[in-house]
Amino acid sequence: MGKCIVVVGTQWGDEGKGKVVDLLARDAHAIVRFQGGHNAGHTLVVGGKKTVLHLIPSGILQPNTVNVIGNGVIVSPEALLHEWEELEADGVPVAERLHISLDCPLILSCHIALDVAREHASGDKKIGTTGRGIGPAYEDKVARRSLRIVDLFSGCDWEEKLRSLYDYHNFVLTRYHQAEPVDVDEQARSIEKFARKVEPRTCNTSQLINELRRDIGTVLFEGAQGAMLDIDLGTYPYVTSSNTVAGSAASGCGIGPLYIDDVFGIVKAYTTRVGAGPFPTELFDENGRYLCERGVEFGSTTGRPRRSGWLDAVALTHAIRANSVSMLCLTKLDVLDGLPSVKFCVDYDTRADHPNSFSGDALSSVTPCYEELPGWSEPTAGLTEFEQLPDNAQCYIARLEEVLGIPIGIISTGSERDAVIVRRESLL
Ligand code: GDP
Ligand code: IMO
Ligand code: MG
Repeated sequence: MGKCIVVVGTQWGDEGKGKVVDLLARDAHAIVRFQGGHNAGHTLVVGGKKTVLHLIPSGILQPNTVNVIGNGVIVSPEALLHEWEELEADGVPVAERLHISLDCPLILSCHIALDVAREHASGDKKIGTTGRGIGPAYEDKVARRSLRIVDLFSGCDWEEKLRSLYDYHNFVLTRYHQAEPVDVDEQARSIEKFARKVEPRTCNTSQLINELRRDIGTVLFEGAQGAMLDIDLGTYPYVTSSNTVAGSAASGCGIGPLYIDDVFGIVKAYTTRVGAGPFPTELFDENGRYLCERGVEFGSTTGRPRRSGWLDAVALTHAIRANSVSMLCLTKLDVLDGLPSVKFCVDYDTRADHPNSFSGDALSSVTPCYEELPGWSEPTAGLTEFEQLPDNAQCYIARLEEVLGIPIGIISTGSERDAVIVRRESLL
């Protein structure tokens, strides 16, 4: 009997989930994506080679792994084929390692056009989406009109379904947004190519994952985005359109919640956010620039510069609670090297309107209260033993554990797979 471990982001995404999942996947049997789409960008660096994954789980580079795209993921046919082909060109046997749920809804060109048109129309109220059609595709899912992968193989007239979807969305695009209509024939051709390639790899992934767990071994569930981008629990409306918290792993691939054994929360040693919305600890000074430059904080999907600031233990406590995080993995510790002092937010001074909500407007008016600790000048980059860390770095970690009440079991000290300190006997 294997374990089920959910790995989630606890901030606004880009915490280093890809790096940690790739590392954990060495000892796991299956790695499952359960929500989001190609808005995600998960970076793996192995032997100096960088791979950025958007839809394919971050276990794909580890031999002997089963990688699964669960039903909660919305799949862009073009993005999946592109990623698949790029990995194959690098010698990764994707077709041997990948399984895709028949129940995944498709992201279509009309969703992308709607996402872009809406953002354009929103002016300074825009969300700052990745422009990947995520919101409109999840809307179609909830409205029960999505085209799903299963439709391509079940004898239903999927082209008819596609055409009525395009009639509907092109009406809104042209009449409401005064935008150009999107070409349904081009989308249909692209879906045909996609269908041929993926058919042999599709299955009932709920059955597959439950059998793997029962008979084979450990299953990792790889979250995308982060808790503060969760549609319900994040800084709404400045969020993504899926549930990003650990509970979503159950519905997003068809395992029961009783089977989840552990939840690992990934947290960056500071905070970044790409896109619009409140960010109480954001820095606009030289410390912010230091974090952004040393951390190379540019979006893995869109290349946009990420906003940077101190760690926010108030938001993190919310994320730990909402995810039932059992262990934290602290990433990018090395980025803090050389700062005279490091701060983290322990409270907000006022919670203007709704003291218990992390909703966008409630959070935009708070002022953070900081705890300040001495920094360290010695480099931590690439260190693999906790005792090698400078005393002040050890104190920073110990203080975070105390404030958050959760052990920090993994500390990442660089982007390379091996740049990591593991403080548990075994990873899984
Ligand atoms: P994800 O979306 O959570 O998987 O994170 P991203 O891949 O979007 O962003 C994390 C970035 O930080 C990537 O460029 C990683 O290669 C890099 N990274 C991950 N861990 C570390 C670390 O411990 N130190 C440094 N310097 N970079 C890291
Ligand atoms: P990973 O998995 C960081 C952000 C966008 C925007 C908001 C809504 O790499 O951590 P969307 O396109 O989802 O409708 O955009 O969510 N966002 C992310 N930010 N990392 C991500 O994924 C993100 N995926 C979406 O920037 O603010
Ligand atoms: Mg990312």
